[in-house]
Amino acid sequence: MSTSRSGTRGRAARVIGVLTSGGDAPGMNAAVRAVTRRASSKGCRVLGFKWGYRGLLDGSVVELDNRAVGGVMDRGGTFLGTARSAEFPTEEGQRRAVATLQRLRVEGLVVVGGDGSLAGAHELTKRGVQVVGVPATIDNDVGGSDVSIGFDTALNTVLDALYRIRDTASALERVFVVEVMGRTSGQLALAAAVAGGADIVVIPEIPWDHEAAARAALDGHRDGKLHTIAVVAEGAASGEEVARLLGEHMPGMDVKVSVLGHLQRGGTPTGIDRLVASQLGAKAVDLLLDGMTDVMVGTAGPALQTVSLTYACTQKTAINPELYQLCQVLAL
Ligand code: F6P
Repeated sequence: MSTSRSGTRGRAARVIGVLTSGGDAPGMNAAVRAVTRRASSKGCRVLGFKWGYRGLLDGSVVELDNRAVGGVMDRGGTFLGTARSAEFPTEEGQRRAVATLQRLRVEGLVVVGGDGSLAGAHELTKRGVQVVGVPATIDNDVGGSDVSIGFDTALNTVLDALYRIRDTASALERVFVVEVMGRTSGQLALAAAVAGGADIVVIPEIPWDHEAAARAALDGHRDGKLHTIAVVAEGAASGEEVARLLGEHMPGMDVKVSVLGHLQRGGTPTGIDRLVASQLGAKAVDLLLDGMTDVMVGTAGPALQTVSLTYACTQKTAINPELYQLCQVLAL
C-alpha cells in the first residue's frame, strides 16, 4: 500500500479500487466509467467495490474493464450499488476495510460520494490507504467543488415538477408548497426556486419570516398572480408545516403540499452531470497515479481543483446570499 501523504508524491498505484457511497446521485456511473477507462489506459487493473464501504468490509468486488463500464453513462443510480454503512466508521470496520484492500493488493482507492462518504475516505487515509475523493450528491454541499455530481440532474427533475405544479396551481388559483430534498442543505431548494420562478423559498441556512412571505404572496394574487409556489428544503421544515404557517396568514386560499421525495435522486443524468463526472473520475485516477492522497478533486468554474478531504467534508458550500435575495426580487 502506498505511504504517500496529502499533497506529496509517492509510488504510483497499479491496482485501483473504486466505490460509490452514501445517497446515490445521477452521474455516479459516468464517474466509475471514467475511473475505469482512464486507469486502464494507464495500464492499471480496476476493482469495483459493491455497496459502498460495505464492499470493503465483506470483500464484494467486481473486476472492471473497459467493456464492463460500457452503456452505463446514461443510467441513473449506481451499478456498483451504494449504502450508508454503520459498521465502516467503527474501529473494527476500518480494520477490516484495510485488510480487504491489502488482500486484494489495492494501492489506491477512488471514493465517489457526499460529505459523509468523503469523511470516511479521510479516516482510511489515516491508516495508510491512498484515497482520492470525487464529490457526488444531489445536495451540492461538498466544500471545494462548485458542483457535485448529480446536482444538475436533480435540479432539472425538480424544475420539471415545479412547472407541472404551476399549471395546476394556476388553474385553481392555489398555493403549493413543494418539499425537496436537503436534510442539511438548501442548495437544491434555492437553485430550483430561482430557476423555477418560485415565490417563496425556505432553507435551513436562512431564517424565514412566514408572515411577510404570506403578505407578499397575497399582494401578488391581488395583483393578478394565479399561483403561489413555495419551495422548502426538507431540513428547514416539512412541507406540511410550511403550508400550515402560510395557510394561517392567507385566509381563503387553498394551500396544497407536494413532497417530491426520492424521485429527485433518480433518472438519466444530464449532459452536465455526465461531463463533470467524466472529468472528475479521470482526474481522480491521474492524482492517484501522481501519488496524491487525502484529497478530493472538485470543480472551480470550468476548471478542476484539488482540495484536502478534510476541507471537502467540513467546509460545506455556503448559500449565496445574493441568489437568495434574487429569489425574493424575481418572485414579485
Ligand atoms: O443524498 C442526499 C440525500 O438525498 C439528502 O438530500 C436526503 O436528505 C437524504 O439523502 C435521504 O437519504 P436516504 O435516501 O438515505 O433516506
